[in-house]
Amino acid sequence: MKTLKSYKHVIWFDETLIDHCVEQAFDPDYWHAQNKVLGSAEGRGTTWFVQTDILPAALRHYKRGGLFGKLIKDHYWFIQWHKTRSFEEFQLLQHLVKAGVNVPKPIAARAVKRTLCYQADILTQKIEGAQDLVTILQSRTLEPEVYQSIGVQIRQLHDANVNHTDLNIHNILLDRDNKVWLIDFDKCYRERSEMEINQVGWKKSNLDRLLRSFYKEKRKVSIKWGEHRDWEMLLSGYNKNL
Ligand SMILES: Nc1ncnc2c1ncn2[C@@H]1O[C@H](COP(=O)(O)OP(=O)(O)O)[C@@H](O)[C@H]1O
Ligand SMILES: [Mg+2]
Repeated sequence: MKTLKSYKHVIWFDETLIDHCVEQAFDPDYWHAQNKVLGSAEGRGTTWFVQTDILPAALRHYKRGGLFGKLIKDHYWFIQWHKTRSFEEFQLLQHLVKAGVNVPKPIAARAVKRTLCYQADILTQKIEGAQDLVTILQSRTLEPEVYQSIGVQIRQLHDANVNHTDLNIHNILLDRDNKVWLIDFDKCYRERSEMEINQVGWKKSNLDRLLRSFYKEKRKVSIKWGEHRDWEMLLSGYNKNL
């Protein structure tokens, strides 16, 4: 990882994944002007998909959710550069890539100081041809093996000691080969030690949240999800090598 620092901003980047223009890479207008916008997706804000010289990428500006987010949309309290949302997600993704979990490779992250606050952005590898589980399950059911592979990925995430505090089915993608990808690691973190007694607690609460998300989307948009049967398959993947 390389770092570019000025008095107002810091950029962290992987020099093997972005070789120039890293300072402009966080500006959607830069990509628009060059005709290199591939598309976009709506979440809390807009994620822009852009074609860098090396790989297709997803550009996200950090935005708050909830009521507080309506007032202070994209400013976060500054403590230190290494405690910014973008740096923390960049590092976590690097850790997960090393651990062999299917997550987008982090390309670059930026934090910009605004008086007492900061704003943040991140550029990650775009998962080509991927859709999130909510979208997919609205049109088709999934094979038991796919549920198993979702369980396997979550298990790998947990074996890497990472707590995904927003593990819902919007944040699980499948590509054209049904390969499972986990995304959206804002505010997620590494649990301190594998020796801690609270190991079971956080892992279980990730899984509980995911289960609630399946039920929620079933009510909301009638996803084609087979409740117990499909959940058991997912858990069988999660518990595979026990
Ligand atoms: N690296 C990526 N590759 C492909 N699609 C992505 C990627 N990152 C985000 N997306 C798409 O953008 C949506 C929103 O991104 P996400 O990181 O979940 O942010 P948020 O939920 O905070 O808005 C996702 O549901 C997904 O459809
Ligand atoms: Mg999300």
